[in-house]
Amino acid sequence: MTVKLAVLASGRGSNFHSIVREIEDGTLDAVIEILISDRPDAAALKRAEEHGIETRHIPYDKNNRRAFEEKAGDLIEEKGCDLVILAGFMRLLTPYLVGRFEGRILNIHPALLPAFKGLDAQRQALEYGVKITGCTVHVVTEDMDAGPIVAQRAVPVLDDDTEESLSARILEEEHKLYPEAIRIHGKKRM
Ligand code: GRF
Repeated sequence: MTVKLAVLASGRGSNFHSIVREIEDGTLDAVIEILISDRPDAAALKRAEEHGIETRHIPYDKNNRRAFEEKAGDLIEEKGCDLVILAGFMRLLTPYLVGRFEGRILNIHPALLPAFKGLDAQRQALEYGVKITGCTVHVVTEDMDAGPIVAQRAVPVLDDDTEESLSARILEEEHKLYPEAIRIHGKKRM
């Protein structure tokens, strides 16, 4: 059964693009019903348009997070999406949206959770001096980077790694991990 996805992205959208590629290649049985961004200039919006995917920019006001979440939630429901995919979406969701799609929102984080939650996870890993880090796809709950883990991939930290080189190697693994996690979690949710 084809999994219907809504993707939320704020930035360059490389994870979003890796999902699109697997769908187009036929290795991921899914369809992206809508790409939603909180930023009008997100590169992800342009990428979506290039692939004929419907997009929507919903302005985000940090003093009224509920307004964004209600609009996004209505749209996601209207499109009949099975899963909501956070792909570089730089806003924390409130309990309202998390509750509305409980167990159906996924996020990708560039570290092996529960280590190095929050921003700059790759820098945190370098500063701590771990020898292995990686990426995690997890179910979104009310607590940041804390929900049940769906899938992970490990990435070795090299002696001469910089934040940039490590981030780039983790990102390569993220691009394989997210489609894999959607396959795993999509089956459970349908
Ligand atoms: C990725 O590193 C992801 O793990 C983090 O934000 C970044 C998004 O990159 N949550 P992109 O927009 O998918 O290229």
